[in-house]
Amino acid sequence: MIIIKSHEEIQLMREAGAVTAQILAHLFQIIRPGITTKDVDDYVERTILKYKMIPAFKGYNGYPASACVSVNQQVVHGIPSKNRILQEGDIVSVDVGTIHRGYYSDAARTYPVGEIDEEAQRLITTTRESFYEGLKFCRSCYRLSDVSHAIQKRVEEDGFSVVRDFVGHGIGRSMHEEPQIPNYGSPGRGPKLTPGMVLAIEPMVNEGTYQVAVLPDNWTVETADGKRSAHYENTVVVTENEPMLLTRLDGSESMEV
Ligand code: MF3
Ligand code: CO
Repeated sequence: MIIIKSHEEIQLMREAGAVTAQILAHLFQIIRPGITTKDVDDYVERTILKYKMIPAFKGYNGYPASACVSVNQQVVHGIPSKNRILQEGDIVSVDVGTIHRGYYSDAARTYPVGEIDEEAQRLITTTRESFYEGLKFCRSCYRLSDVSHAIQKRVEEDGFSVVRDFVGHGIGRSMHEEPQIPNYGSPGRGPKLTPGMVLAIEPMVNEGTYQVAVLPDNWTVETADGKRSAHYENTVVVTENEPMLLTRLDGSESMEV
């Protein structure tokens, strides 16, 4: 069952999402060569607590940090470490979630560390744009797999691949609610989208094979071929008209590369 949210619930999720969005926007200024992935997590945690919200990931199934910070071939769920120093040319995905009065937000961006090569830039851009392709179908006239299909189409047209083993999800009073939202599939299937559905749509896009593996730390997901991966996620509300993004600041796209 997909839980439809009331206006009051969506308002709380918007407040949760505003903090997540602000953190992700500010990270474009913080992330540079020489800082550690733990520095990123410290900033994320400090800021969430400053706004009197709860880091959604910390303690979730035992996850030890407030952000997931995944470098280069790491796809998602990278554990921040003071020993992982970001280097010029790396790309790094940061995933952040907040809880505000019982309601969740969840979003991610992929950042360049200093100057990056053209292929890495193209990977980041395609990943973000594939999200917006999916968003075009986040309306009450479409079905869930229309979103999935649009994401896959864009990614594969650009010569990259879509991760199969991890998916987007409904979100609300839990981080993960129904439905699961694959980033691939044939159009016209699955539930009809309905106003009040809140969805975390999150393409994970690989340079090479779509296959991934989980490291012995039981969290970090890496590409099977060691090539790079990017991630982009927002919490989205289906409405009668245009979908609403709860985790993007107005104009923040202009800071994104
Ligand atoms: N955005 C991720 C998700 O959707 C983050 C959860 S990972 C964990 O599922 F760290 F919280 F476990
Ligand atoms: Co998510």
